[in-house]
Amino acid sequence: MRILLTGHLGQLGRTLLPLLARNHAVEGIDLPAHDITDRTAMLALAAQVHPDFILNSAAMTNVDGCARDPELAYRANGMGVQNLALAAASVGAEFMQISTNEVFDGTATEPYHEWASCRPINAYGRSKLAGEWYAQHLLTRAYIVRTAWLYAVEGRNFPHRMLELADEVLAGKRSSLSVVTDEVGNPTYVVDLAEAIVKLIDTHAYGIYHLVNEGVASRFEFAQALLETSGRGNVPLTPITSGAFQRASTPPPYAPLTNTAAAALGIRLRPWRDAVAAFIADAGYRRSDGEGL
Ligand SMILES: NC(=O)c1ccc[n+]([C@@H]2O[C@H](COP(=O)([O-])OP(=O)(O)OC[C@H]3O[C@@H](n4cnc5c(N)ncnc54)[C@H](OP(=O)(O)O)[C@@H]3O)[C@@H](O)[C@H]2O)c1
Repeated sequence: MRILLTGHLGQLGRTLLPLLARNHAVEGIDLPAHDITDRTAMLALAAQVHPDFILNSAAMTNVDGCARDPELAYRANGMGVQNLALAAASVGAEFMQISTNEVFDGTATEPYHEWASCRPINAYGRSKLAGEWYAQHLLTRAYIVRTAWLYAVEGRNFPHRMLELADEVLAGKRSSLSVVTDEVGNPTYVVDLAEAIVKLIDTHAYGIYHLVNEGVASRFEFAQALLETSGRGNVPLTPITSGAFQRASTPPPYAPLTNTAAAALGIRLRPWRDAVAAFIADAGYRRSDGEGL
C-alpha cells in the first residue's frame, strides 16, 4: 500500500515509519512543511500522493497548551482530522486516527472498553473527541485507535523526566521525588503500539480499538517501576495527590483502557512492566548502583 503518515517526527510517527516501510511505500509529513489544519494543502497532497491509507499520528499533544488555547486544540485535533478525513474520502483511502484515553471522564471503577461513553473533562480530550467524530462520520473505512501515556526512547515524556529527576536526587541537587497516586492509566511503549498498529491495518476490520500495554498503573507505580528497573530504587519517592500542585489541564483521574476488540483479532500488547524493562534497555539507561543491566 501507499501510506501517508502524518506526524512522522513525533514519538509514535518516528517509530511507525520504519516499521510500515518494511511492507509499504510510506510518505511521512509533519510541521512545519505540512500543516494538517490547512485543508487545501491536505486535499492537494492527497491528490498528488494518492495514498491507499492515511494514518494520522499528528496532534497537538501538549495537554496544558490545549487547556490554555482550546481553539487551537480544536483546530489541530478536531478540524485537522476533518481535513485528513476529507482528503482520504477524495482519493478513496482507508484512514486511521490515533486518539486518547482522555476522551473519558476518569470516574470509572474499572478500565474503559472500546464502547464506553465518552465524556472528556479537559480541552485536549474534547478536541480529540472532535477528531474521532470526524473520522467516524465522514468515512466508513476508518479505524480509531485510542492509546494512553505514550513513551519512547526519543521524545520528551514521563519516563525520561522521572529518570532525569532521580539522577538530580542522586547528585544531591534535590532531596526527593514526588509523584501522584491519584492518576491512573496504562503506560504504553510506542514500539509495542507501533507493532500492534502494523498488524491492525492488515485486518481491514474498521472500528474503535484500545491499544495499550496490558495492566493498569498509577503515575506513582509507573515511576517506581522506572526507578527500580533502572537500578535507581534507592531514590526516595514521595506519594502525593494531584491537589498538591497546579497545572492548566486536569487529567481524568482513573482512565485506563482495556483491549477487547484488538485482542479478539489476536492483537495484544505485552504487560506494561515488561515494556518498561525493554525501554530501559533500549534507551541505554545506566544503573546508578554500578551493576550491569
Ligand atoms: N503522548 C501521549 O502520551 C499520548 C497518549 C494518548 C494518545 N496520544 C495520541 O497519540 C498520537 C501520537 O502522539 P505522540 O506522543 O507521538 O505525539 P508527538 O510526539 O507530540 O507528535 C505529534 C507530531 O504531530 C505534529 N503536529 C502537531 N500539530 C500538527 C499540525 N497542525 N500539522 C502537522 N503536524 C502536526 C507535531 O509537531 P510539533 O512537535 O512541531 O508540534 C509532532 O511532530 C497523537 O494523536 C496523540 O494525541 C498520545
